[in-house]
Amino acid sequence: MNRKVILCVDDEKIVLESLRSELEEHFSDDYDLEFAESGGEALEVIADLVATQDQLALIITDYLMPGLKGDEILATIFQQHPESKQIMLTGQANLEGITNAINNAKLYRYISKPWEKSDLLLTITEAVKSYEQEMQIKEHHVVLEETVRRRTRELEQTLMDLKSSQEQLVAAEKMAVLGGLVAGIAHEINTPVGVGVTAASHLENQLQDIVRQYRNAQLSREEYEQFLDNAVEGIQIILRNLEAAANLVSSFKLVAVDQSSEALREFKFNEYLKAILLSLQPEIKQTRIKITVDCPESLMINSYPGDFSQIFTNLIMNSILHGFNNGRDPGTITISVMPQDNGTITIDYADTGKGIPPDIIPQIFDPFFTTNRQSGRSGLGMHIVYNIVTHRLKGSVVCKDRPPQGAHFLITVPSNIQM
Ligand SMILES: Nc1ncnc2c1ncn2[C@@H]1O[C@H](COP(=O)(O)OP(=O)(O)OP(=O)(O)O)[C@@H](O)[C@H]1O
Ligand SMILES: [Mg+2]
Repeated sequence: MNRKVILCVDDEKIVLESLRSELEEHFSDDYDLEFAESGGEALEVIADLVATQDQLALIITDYLMPGLKGDEILATIFQQHPESKQIMLTGQANLEGITNAINNAKLYRYISKPWEKSDLLLTITEAVKSYEQEMQIKEHHVVLEETVRRRTRELEQTLMDLKSSQEQLVAAEKMAVLGGLVAGIAHEINTPVGVGVTAASHLENQLQDIVRQYRNAQLSREEYEQFLDNAVEGIQIILRNLEAAANLVSSFKLVAVDQSSEALREFKFNEYLKAILLSLQPEIKQTRIKITVDCPESLMINSYPGDFSQIFTNLIMNSILHGFNNGRDPGTITISVMPQDNGTITIDYADTGKGIPPDIIPQIFDPFFTTNRQSGRSGLGMHIVYNIVTHRLKGSVVCKDRPPQGAHFLITVPSNIQM
């Protein structure tokens, strides 16, 4: 901290001396004392203080002096040191000088000569105390302003960081959705291709048998006709699944762009459902699972048929895989479709498998949630079902909690998506 100074100005040496002895006794510990015999000299002292960046705490000045008068000195000093305290001493009570000092400067007290020593000391003590307090307040003010400025800067920075994190999150989310989409498409293609391969290899085996029997002249007419029936069914399965895979591939670009993989159309729900189940026959055949469907024959809906294919494929594959121990356990899958009065249809899907533990029900629609990662599952099936039902078909899907009776899903979708 720089020096704190008390400056005394009087053209009478004797007055200065008496001020010196009184001030030295009481204030020299905390303040440097400066003395000037004229206004000019006082201003020189002040100029030095400015140069050395010292503080003028208090000026005590005589009023009547040759050259600059007390009120003029005070007015000049006030310009440069508005915070300094000012006391004027004078023998000749001069109202004009005091008025000037009050109006143009910042006169703290007026003391008449000769002064009462105790009165003078008390006045000076009060003046410097008041000066110290004001300086302290000023200092706090500066600190406060700096703190506010710093906090404002920090808040602005935080806001900018938040904005950029938000942008990154949005970008990451978009990438994740796209990534999920790619994985989802791959997943979806896997099923029809798998079904197609199974059907084709089954047909190949049958064909080899038939060829062998034919070459050995062991082929009966019934066997040949049976083979033809099987071949027609097998080829239909292969074709339907290859078409499904081709549609998925060609629609991937569309799906990625606007989620419209297949045209909206009116179709007979029951018929389409049967077609889906037929395409899953190769998978279902190898299990001991019975599927029963309860759907009004005439039910027509206006929606995206391909989406229902994805929904049922996922649900049924999940039942086989998770509910019935990869198809080894026997059981039933029941699909009940009911048109409602409010223009929706409800699809009640239930299996009698091992069921979904209540504690994982809240997570099964989350992307990548699977209890079978060790068998290479990706945990996207139910997420895809959820997205299709809620986003594309504008409906809802819930997993009902009903242990230990197997899994149960309730899907509600509008029967005319354009309404
Ligand atoms: N019918 C069901 N019976 C028992 N558990 C099921 C059934 N359907 C789904 N689950 C549970 O929900 C989880 C999430 O299913 P989801 O279809 O999303 O993933 P996944 O089948 O494990 O993997 P992916 O479908 O990607 O191959 C499954 O891992 C399984 O624990
Ligand atoms: Mg699945």
